[in-house]
Amino acid sequence: MYDRWYQNAVIYCLDVETFQDSNGDGIGDFAGLTSRLDYLAGLGITCIWLLPFYPSPNRDNGYDITDYYAVDPRLGSLGDFVEFTRHAHERGMRVLIDLVVNHTSDQHPWFQAARCDPRSRYRDYYIWSADKPPDADQQVVFPGVQQSTWTWDAQAGAYYHHRFYEHQPDLNIANPAVRAEINKIVGFWLQLGVSGFRVDAAPFLIDIPSFQHGDAQDRYQYLRALRETLSWRRGDAILLAEANVDPQTLRQYFGDGDRMHLLFNFYLNQHLFLALVREQAQPLIESLRALPPIPPPCQWANFVRNHDELTLDRLTPQERQEILDAFAPEPNMRIYGRGIRRRLPPMLTGDRRRMVLTYSLMFTLPGIPVLRYGEEISMGDDLSLRERESVRTPMQWNDQPHAGFSSAPGEDLIYPPIDHGPFSYQRVNVAHQQRDPTSFLNTMERMIRTRKECPEFAWGTWQIMDPGTAQVLALRYELEGRTVVTLHNLGRTAQRVRLALGSGAPRLIDLLSARQHELPEGTPYELELEGYGYRWLRLVS
Ligand code: GLC
Ligand code: CA
Repeated sequence: MYDRWYQNAVIYCLDVETFQDSNGDGIGDFAGLTSRLDYLAGLGITCIWLLPFYPSPNRDNGYDITDYYAVDPRLGSLGDFVEFTRHAHERGMRVLIDLVVNHTSDQHPWFQAARCDPRSRYRDYYIWSADKPPDADQQVVFPGVQQSTWTWDAQAGAYYHHRFYEHQPDLNIANPAVRAEINKIVGFWLQLGVSGFRVDAAPFLIDIPSFQHGDAQDRYQYLRALRETLSWRRGDAILLAEANVDPQTLRQYFGDGDRMHLLFNFYLNQHLFLALVREQAQPLIESLRALPPIPPPCQWANFVRNHDELTLDRLTPQERQEILDAFAPEPNMRIYGRGIRRRLPPMLTGDRRRMVLTYSLMFTLPGIPVLRYGEEISMGDDLSLRERESVRTPMQWNDQPHAGFSSAPGEDLIYPPIDHGPFSYQRVNVAHQQRDPTSFLNTMERMIRTRKECPEFAWGTWQIMDPGTAQVLALRYELEGRTVVTLHNLGRTAQRVRLALGSGAPRLIDLLSARQHELPEGTPYELELEGYGYRWLRLVS
């Protein structure tokens, strides 16, 4: 039962082009990434999720694909990809890749063929309309930079549907030929050794206009079909879906354990930020209660920040405003009318205690952690870059020119590394933190190691405890008679915590320090938790 690797994985997400450049052209590549695998293995990562690395005009960070069966030549060759995968496996790490099949680039040969010939076999790969649907200008995903979800194509003489930017026409998965194509893409990369896919934009993938006339259940059947193909081709491969939908709808994505294996927990993520702002545990408690129970073969994937904006769309306007006021006070820090384009450390003005508290929560909330490159060293953002690019600056390896990311001249770099202010690469980098036992990096590494030693987090049952104070979140995890309790003080002031731990547990071991506590006869057990303090405690009898 406890051998499903993904249920206790530690995922690390990165974009090949900003991680490590090996040949001095200013763009990260597979050879560079491969040379950094020992670093990731040392950190304790068990699975690497790669952002899209396919040929692309790169108008949406590679989420606009022109060929699903190749590697962007700037990043290397298919051979380099296989070498990378092989070396990752040698170090005990699996590889997930992005499956971006809601849409293609408008430069994809399928779209080019479809637009110039109505009789082309590719015409029905996309979604067309002779007239502009009345609701075309509503529900754009990128308000401010996207006008509509239907755009006129003069060559085709028709409107085409696109949930995202207008250069990303949506594929028509109601067409069996498109489904066959997606199966072929999945099969291809499984054959090359990947352990699964992050399913990009899952709700939009299945929500195509022609489905809207049918049974609402229908669309979810596609997730099951995709899963069947995957599992038949490779039994231990997984699907990790991006589905930022309301808690009631989330269960559809898990199905009976026969659809997605993992779902990003956007709902918990947004409430985590609300809890941080309010310095109260209540938003986390409420969201944990609101989430559906998940079928046994499934799991949540928890994260703090990703490569997109911090979206706050599941909160009430007032809750959203509280977070914006506190963590994104200036207009340039906000985006799309619903989110924040910053990394965590600048949002928390570099407050180390609060940053560590946040990651401690990510590592212990029910589910598995997904770390994004640079988070382990507390990298910042560059608000002078456009849209979501602010959080996509190169990895900061050391204090050498261009952060050790590349030897190219500055003007050739894909993005400039952050070189000023408190988060500059001269101050925040891997090399410095490796040498300092008290660094952020070493704190993260230790948490990862400890988490892996606590199967309770992945497989246990959990329960919200009453610590007697509103600032503290107390969770109790149990697995086959083993018990771990975690405490997180979201508030800045010290709190006295009282816990009823039951009988038969004479000792508590603090898993992140050498402290041991004898439990007094007949608990409640009491302890003082400093402001933004946290504990991972194991009960030992
Ligand atoms: C997903 C990606 C985002 C991209 C969008 C369109 O939401 O996370 O980066 O822009 O899909 O592909
Ligand atoms: Ca390169």
